[in-house]
Amino acid sequence: MNNNAPVGVFDSGVGGLSVLAEIRQRLPNESLLYVADSAHVPYGEKSPEFIRQRCREIAQFLLGQGAKALVLACNTATVAGAADLRELYPDLPIVGMEPAVKPAAATTRSGVVGVLATTGTLKSAKFAALLDRFAGDVRVVTQPCPGLVEQIEAGDLNGPVTRALLERYVQPLLAAGCDTLILGCTHYPFIKPLLRQMVPADISLIDTGAAVAKQLQRLLAERNLLAWPSDVKQHFWCSADPQKMQSVLPALGLDNAEVMAFK
Ligand code: DGL
Repeated sequence: MNNNAPVGVFDSGVGGLSVLAEIRQRLPNESLLYVADSAHVPYGEKSPEFIRQRCREIAQFLLGQGAKALVLACNTATVAGAADLRELYPDLPIVGMEPAVKPAAATTRSGVVGVLATTGTLKSAKFAALLDRFAGDVRVVTQPCPGLVEQIEAGDLNGPVTRALLERYVQPLLAAGCDTLILGCTHYPFIKPLLRQMVPADISLIDTGAAVAKQLQRLLAERNLLAWPSDVKQHFWCSADPQKMQSVLPALGLDNAEVMAFK
């Protein structure tokens, strides 16, 4: 495998771009391929079987494009499809995401932690196992957030509808005494500035993008697969209307990115 082969990253939509940004920052020499499965967003309300199948198709496409590693930049896809992909491709470095329960449980002062995530993530056996393993005595209050991903997909990061939805989801967590909120969906870092305005300054907001970039670095280094400085490439595909995704990208901090159609 060529060190300068790209890393394949995917999500149900634009959420994984929050992870892509962390990878770009930590591993500036890596070429990156990104697939947004926008024709099927949100994954949060879909069956694990459906998502698993999408993961297989996208992984196959990214490997066909020469990817040397895969990042499931989506918590919901990780609970549904990561184990399956690891079984299919045992030698491939595959990085998944999970809500940051471990660091939150280690740092909470109030002993109450809130998790904002999709319904699919919160009702998965993998999430239950994560709580069993790391929550300890900490009380973990979960909050599914239907509708929020759609707002972010539309590039609406602080309009009245997004604001009202987020208020509705965050208030019960604050009322329960949470001093730490876990952003358990890769779309949510894009509304972190809005969330920051809504919660007291001493509430910690934790997401997993940086930890995922670090884990990718570790897996690539272990296999001697880190890229050498060279001409770094970045390509984007989307399974819905590429123009529509392209028009949203500047709001998410990506200017001049061309998006291609993924079938
Ligand atoms: N970005 C995703 C996640 O991290 C999924 C959002 C969705 O499609 O429901 O869970």
